[in-house]
Amino acid sequence: MPLTLSRPDLQRTAHFIAGEWQNLGPTFDVTDPATGAVIAQVPDGDSQAARAAVDAAHAAFPAWRKTPAKQRAQILKRWNDLVLAHQEDLGRLISREQGKPLAEGRGEVSYAASYIEWFAEEATRANGEVIPAPVPGRRMFALKEPVGVVAAITPWNFPAAMIARKIAPALAAGCTVVCKPAEDTPLTSLALVALAQEAGVPPGVLNIVTASRERTPEVVDAWLDDARVRKITFTGSTPVGKHLARRSADTLKKLSLELGGNAPFIVFEDADLEAAVEGLMAAKFRNGGQTCVCPNRVFVHAAVHDRFAALLVARVAALQVGPASDPASQIGPMINARAVEKIERHVQDAVARGAVVLTGGTRLPALGANYFAPTVLAGADATMACALEETFGPVAPLTRFSDEAEVIAQANDTPFGLAAYFYSRDVRRIWRLADALEAGIVGINEGALAAEAAPFGGVKDSGYGREGSVHGLDDYLHTKYVCQGQLD
Ligand code: SIN
Repeated sequence: MPLTLSRPDLQRTAHFIAGEWQNLGPTFDVTDPATGAVIAQVPDGDSQAARAAVDAAHAAFPAWRKTPAKQRAQILKRWNDLVLAHQEDLGRLISREQGKPLAEGRGEVSYAASYIEWFAEEATRANGEVIPAPVPGRRMFALKEPVGVVAAITPWNFPAAMIARKIAPALAAGCTVVCKPAEDTPLTSLALVALAQEAGVPPGVLNIVTASRERTPEVVDAWLDDARVRKITFTGSTPVGKHLARRSADTLKKLSLELGGNAPFIVFEDADLEAAVEGLMAAKFRNGGQTCVCPNRVFVHAAVHDRFAALLVARVAALQVGPASDPASQIGPMINARAVEKIERHVQDAVARGAVVLTGGTRLPALGANYFAPTVLAGADATMACALEETFGPVAPLTRFSDEAEVIAQANDTPFGLAAYFYSRDVRRIWRLADALEAGIVGINEGALAAEAAPFGGVKDSGYGREGSVHGLDDYLHTKYVCQGQLD
């Protein structure tokens, strides 16, 4: 089915460097995960394109950092307005290249815009400090300054929102940007950049280089080795995040790393079970389970386990799976063949180790190669691949527990620490758990946590840095201490 947009020119297929759309060199295919059909071909960037983008961003930085914050804010506000005005087109692009149902694609556009609006407002609040001097005759200040050229490496699961929550704070802070979107979903980011250009982002301030999976290391290495790039912001896997941290050491770049998760979701015996099922549906099955903050391990107290499992299975079995183009679809295809293979491996490993499939558990070949049935497993334990690795798919493995201290230890028994969730109505337990869980984000009786006003990020192997909130702006600033003497 052709992709029909009310603004066909938003479907761009070129790098955007120094304010120009540039078709350099060979291309690679962008495919529809629902069918495998080629949607578009975009440039397969290399180190030359990567360096050209940094040249442009570096040249644009002095003027952009001096542009008054209010003016930068106005440009970001126009970008926000344009993104919302083109919500339908952007939602269609997201759904086509990423596979999420159209309602979720549209929802992601509003979510992305909320970050642009938030950082437009924060741009004018990058306040420093006046520090009381400890000796006479001095004035002491802490000034906030943009870090410089930022390289943003963004994932495929939220192709609009992750770009927005990296690029909007960078531009708000006065930084310039070079961006490499995920190879599965470059079209949404190119459309967003086209709208940023319309909003008045000056040439060179925002540059984007597309590259295939094979060529991505060449582009990223060029940025890692370039001392003019002062910050890397990355959302993706922990091994890649660690590689970026190691390779950034020689040029000591600032880093924001939003990496893998392995979120526990705990249902205590005093929980509102219906609310807990709703929370799990929202947290686990949004975007087909392809979310870093997605619950990966579900611990249910023995006293309520069977009732909770029955309620959950009824909801999961009723989920409509199908292509984004079908308005009835609630779960689309997984992003690619590698993703489905991993999900299948996790389910097969769990079953081989004694787990029982309560619903789902298989691919759905009648729909296409990348579909997997929403699945609930019972009898999961800590030895299974689904407990050790992020499944990144629509699989909820249930583990029975009977003791609070034991479940806290199990929840924390992972190198990861992005999100954690629990359901309980005991206020003392709530605060014990909020303190004890090793995670950057904790949901208490709530499954949908992300918001532009909240700091998003992890601890341990889930990375560092925060996106969204006032902290999200600070990640693109450094603090300069200025001291004036001889004033008496
Ligand atoms: C992510 O998966 O990294 C982002 C999820 C979100 O913003 O909710």
